[in-house]
Amino acid sequence: MQSRKALITGITGQDGAYLAKLLIDKGYEVYGVHARRSTDALWRLRYLGIEKEVTLLGGDMTDLPSLLRCMEKSAAGEVYNLAAQSFVGTSWEQPILTANVTGVSVVNMLEAVRTVNPKARFYQASTSEMFGLIQEAMQSETTPFYPRSPYGAAKLYGHWMTVNYRESFGLHASSGILFNHESPLRGIEFVTRKVTDAVARIKLGKQKELRLGNIDAKRDWGFAGDYVEAMWLMLQQDMAEDYVIATGRTTTVRDMCAIAFAHVGLAYQDHVVIDPAFYRPAEVDVLLGSPAKAKAKLGWEAKTDLNTLITGMVDADMVRVSQD
Ligand code: NAP
Ligand code: GDD
Repeated sequence: MQSRKALITGITGQDGAYLAKLLIDKGYEVYGVHARRSTDALWRLRYLGIEKEVTLLGGDMTDLPSLLRCMEKSAAGEVYNLAAQSFVGTSWEQPILTANVTGVSVVNMLEAVRTVNPKARFYQASTSEMFGLIQEAMQSETTPFYPRSPYGAAKLYGHWMTVNYRESFGLHASSGILFNHESPLRGIEFVTRKVTDAVARIKLGKQKELRLGNIDAKRDWGFAGDYVEAMWLMLQQDMAEDYVIATGRTTTVRDMCAIAFAHVGLAYQDHVVIDPAFYRPAEVDVLLGSPAKAKAKLGWEAKTDLNTLITGMVDADMVRVSQD
């Protein structure tokens, strides 16, 4: 096993922040690739109280020299590649950027690992969006892929390049095919957080309605804090492999809304307005993952049910919105 130093790309995102906290709690030295932004990107690290406990290294996923320097400076033995343009909706508006950042840049990170420390263990943030137009009712590691967005297609490239570098160069490279996972640190554009933020605003009299797209879509939603443990477990295995990480339950956006509104004594039907502006050019109607392999080989299973997750997000947004 290499030294307990980890490098996280996407450390300022939802998963990056939870993963950094998990690794710090396990005694790791945590380094993060930090892309320059003109606005504050560190709020999640502050929220978890770890802003001062991570070392941020300047770099961008599209810039291989910067990733090589991040690998050298961190001397990381574990690399978690979480950075991406991760919002599916934006991927139709910015397909080339999404291809570059979410797809091709995975190879930048793989090359940086291969060049600087080929013994380092590598985690790739793959996604259930690769299943897209689902080919089996319950998706597992052997289900054929059929991506339905530029994001899904870019992720599929990154996924196969991770497999390819494992098979071609013997890298300890694993791909986690994670289904949707949420938290109070979720970006506001994703549907769960959009809903829980709106519920708080409506309850506190700061907003009247919530405009949504396809509320009949179904997702297998879990808690991000649970899912980052699976990432870590994958890199602790002797053999690198790919794993589906999911709860094994699926719920409509409509029912998720009902949970959120009911938590503050409201009915979603009184406030949700369907707005075709939020429909997607191609929809992923339903996702449902099988966590069987993760349970058998990693001993991992989701601990947080949807009700606990969504009501906890509403509570966090009630606090945030009341302080606005
Ligand atoms: P997120 O909150 O959107 O975080 C994305 C991260 O990538 C941010 O830290 C962002 O930095 C960084 N980033 C974007 N472009 C970059 C660039 N050019 N160079 C360097 N960093 C860049 O995403 P998340 O929910 O934490 O998800 C983490 C990963 O898992 C992503 O790859 C996502 O596609 C994948 N995934 C997520 C889910 C889910 O349900 N959350 C499920 C499956 C897979 P800034 O903060 O500076 O923008
Ligand atoms: N964002 C959003 N906003 N989604 C809406 C809305 C809305 O107003 N109304 C309905 N939806 C539906 C979307 O059409 C989709 O079917 C579902 O809600 C979930 O949308 P998102 O929360 O944006 O997530 P996603 O499933 O597209 O993608 C997320 O999960 C993937 C894993 O399956 C992202 O985190 C991806 O990065 C991740 O790979």
